[in-house]
Amino acid sequence: MTATAENPAAPVDLFSPELVADPFAAHARMREQAPVLTGSMMGGTPMWLVTRYDDVRRVLTDPQFLNNPASVRGGSSDSRFTVMKRLNIPSDVVDYLSGKLIEIDGADHRRLRRLISRAFTARRVSGLRPRVEEITATLLDRLAEAGRDGKPVDLMESFCFQLPATVISELVGIDEADRPDWYAWGRVLMAPMEHVERLPTVFRECADHLLDVIARRRAEPRDDLVTALVQAQEDDGDRLSDREMVKLVFTLVLAGYETTMNLIGNSVLALLENPDQLALLRADPSRWPQAVQELMRLGPTQFGNPRYPAEDVELGGVTIPAGAPVLPLILSANTDPRKFDDPERLDVGRETGTGHLGFGQGAHYCLGAPLALQVAEVALHALFARFPDMSLAAGREEIPWVLRTGFTAVAQLPLRLG
Ligand code: HEM
Repeated sequence: MTATAENPAAPVDLFSPELVADPFAAHARMREQAPVLTGSMMGGTPMWLVTRYDDVRRVLTDPQFLNNPASVRGGSSDSRFTVMKRLNIPSDVVDYLSGKLIEIDGADHRRLRRLISRAFTARRVSGLRPRVEEITATLLDRLAEAGRDGKPVDLMESFCFQLPATVISELVGIDEADRPDWYAWGRVLMAPMEHVERLPTVFRECADHLLDVIARRRAEPRDDLVTALVQAQEDDGDRLSDREMVKLVFTLVLAGYETTMNLIGNSVLALLENPDQLALLRADPSRWPQAVQELMRLGPTQFGNPRYPAEDVELGGVTIPAGAPVLPLILSANTDPRKFDDPERLDVGRETGTGHLGFGQGAHYCLGAPLALQVAEVALHALFARFPDMSLAAGREEIPWVLRTGFTAVAQLPLRLG
């Protein structure tokens, strides 16, 4: 049984169709019901769900909440993998899924974050801007061609996916010839439960491919992130193993394109539905950076990674036992009226800044946030400037949504360009 409007006390199923269909309403109901609820993802490990802004922020920033259950005294590293185990995914594959940056705590996390930050610098990101603009312009030319004579186009496939996928592939150093493989792997890995039988092969292909790229960059350096990581590895006395590099690059590629694609797609829809806000941006394009932060506040992030309290902890009037999984409901926090006035309204003039939790907060704050914000800003600004009469080519209720782990997104966005 799952929580519904009729039966709010039942445990919440985070993948329930109700949550996908109307995330704002579902989160508002949970948030007003209690600061801490119980729930699960598709019948997996029961979790404590945290609904209100201050509590969610605390879970994300208080070092008492750990990201790796094995760091909790007497804790087990198995709890988060209940669903995967139930689905008989081999343990070496589960192992590839574990130990990602987001699942490491304390000094180990700081060390990896420092090494990757040396390669993934602010200068590298801001230096990419002209190239992001160039890729955007090329994709918009292709889109104009596909949408000639009022023919509907799906913006998700032809633009929202292609742009961040191309940018991140170039940044990391994935050759053009290898990108179709990556895109195919990405589709499997971003929706693992839908492609369980393919996971072992995909993980192995991906890891073999990355080991090969690392070896090639070591022999022949280029101006890309894999080369910079190889150099960071060497400067630091070989403390970053090849296996760690594989996981890091793997995380960057996968964490990077699907999320940014979702931000662009959801934002296009939100702006088409709020023409007054779009008009403000057209009148004053210098508002775009602020607007993108506001669009981030309202999606696509639904929840962060689970945290595990090091000791029994009091939160929202409930005592959560040490080691129990706690899920920060970020969308719920970002639409909490205790923090934001008229919280479900898109207001591109709102001083959202980094007050929203859409990129997380604290030690695990999204490493790719500056890149995602830049790509989304360039994309949205250019798209609406190029096609000022763009409109939806389907009824709002016909637009399909999907829930990935932690994110909601428009699956297809049929548009008429003018
Ligand atoms: C709109 C796009 C994006 C969204 C909504 C997003 C969201 C998030 C969130 C919510 C977290 C924190 C999760 C938590 O603390 O539980 C996070 C962490 C992370 N993100 Fe992003 N992200 C985006 C783009 C990117 C990009 C472009 C990259 C890399 C190229 C990236 C790489 C990462 C990494 C590596 C972490 C883990 C950081 C750590 O554990 O220290 N993200 N992201």
